[in-house]
Amino acid sequence: MARVKTAVFPVAGLGTRFLPATKAFPKELLPVVDRPLIQYAVDEALDAGIESLIFVTGRGKTAIEDHFDVSYELEATLAARNDFETLALLQDIRPQPGQVVYVRQMEPLGLGHAVWCARNLVGSEPFAVILADDLLHPTGGALNAMIDEHETTGANVVLVQEVSATETSRYGIIDPGERSDTATNVTGIVEKPGPGDAPSNLGVIGRYILDPSIMDHLATTPSGASEEIQLTDGLAASLKDRELHAITNPGVRFDCGSKIGLIEATITIALERDDLGPQVKDLLRRLG
Ligand code: G1P
Repeated sequence: MARVKTAVFPVAGLGTRFLPATKAFPKELLPVVDRPLIQYAVDEALDAGIESLIFVTGRGKTAIEDHFDVSYELEATLAARNDFETLALLQDIRPQPGQVVYVRQMEPLGLGHAVWCARNLVGSEPFAVILADDLLHPTGGALNAMIDEHETTGANVVLVQEVSATETSRYGIIDPGERSDTATNVTGIVEKPGPGDAPSNLGVIGRYILDPSIMDHLATTPSGASEEIQLTDGLAASLKDRELHAITNPGVRFDCGSKIGLIEATITIALERDDLGPQVKDLLRRLG
C-alpha cells in the first residue's frame, strides 16, 4: 500500500458560530491558549509523518497563508531586540518551503465538495483529511493508528467516538459491523441522522484517511444534508468498491467548532501547562 504523505485541511468554512469574532478573521486561527486551532492540526499531521499539506481555503482566509509564511518585519524586529527565543518559536511553527499549497473552494458547497476541490493536488495517492475544529488531545495517536490501518488493509478509515442519542444530528454516524483487533468494519454511514434514524451512537470526528478513488464518488455525489455535498455521502457511495474501517478515538476530542468546546480546550490545555497551570487553577477556584 502507498504511504500516506498528504493531508487536506478544509478551511473555507464561514465560522458563523463565532460571529462577530470571525467576521474578518478565519475561525481556524482562533487560539487555544496561544496557538491557533490550525496550528494544532498541522502539528498533528507533521508528527504523523505527513509531508505535504493542502489547504482548501476561501475568500477572507488569507490570514492562514500569512500565518504559515515568513513575517519579515516581525522576525527582523525580534532579531534586532535579541529576542531569539520568540524568534525560534516562529521559525519552529513554519512548514518547509514548498510543503504547503492552497486551493480555493469558490462556493460553500459542503465538506465533500471542499475535499473534491483538492483532487488535482492529491493525485493518485491516499491522503488524510483533517478538520481543525476537532482538536484531539493528546494529538498523534489517532492519526497514526488510522494511517497504519489504511496502509495494512487499503480501506478508507474514519475516526469515531460515542455521542449521546440527542447529538447524532450533528455528526456522520456509522453502522458498525464486525470488529478486528484494530478497527470496526463499517457497513453504512449517514450524515446527521435524527435520533430515531441513527444506525448507532458512533459519530465520526474530523479525521479521515481516504483512497484517491473517493474523488470519483465525490464528483457525482448530489447535495445531501444541509443542501451540501457531504463527504459522508461520498463515503457511503464508496462502500460498494472499498471497505470503510472505523478507529475509536483513543484520547479526548474537543469540539472547537462550538463555544463551549473551545472554552473547555483552552482551560484543559492551560491547566496542563507549567507556565499557566497553577494560576489558572487559582483563578478557577476563585471564580468557582
Ligand atoms: C462534519 C462532517 C460530519 C462529522 C463532523 C465532525 O460536520 O460532515 O460527518 O461528523 O464534521 O466534526 P460539520 O461539523 O462540519 O457540520
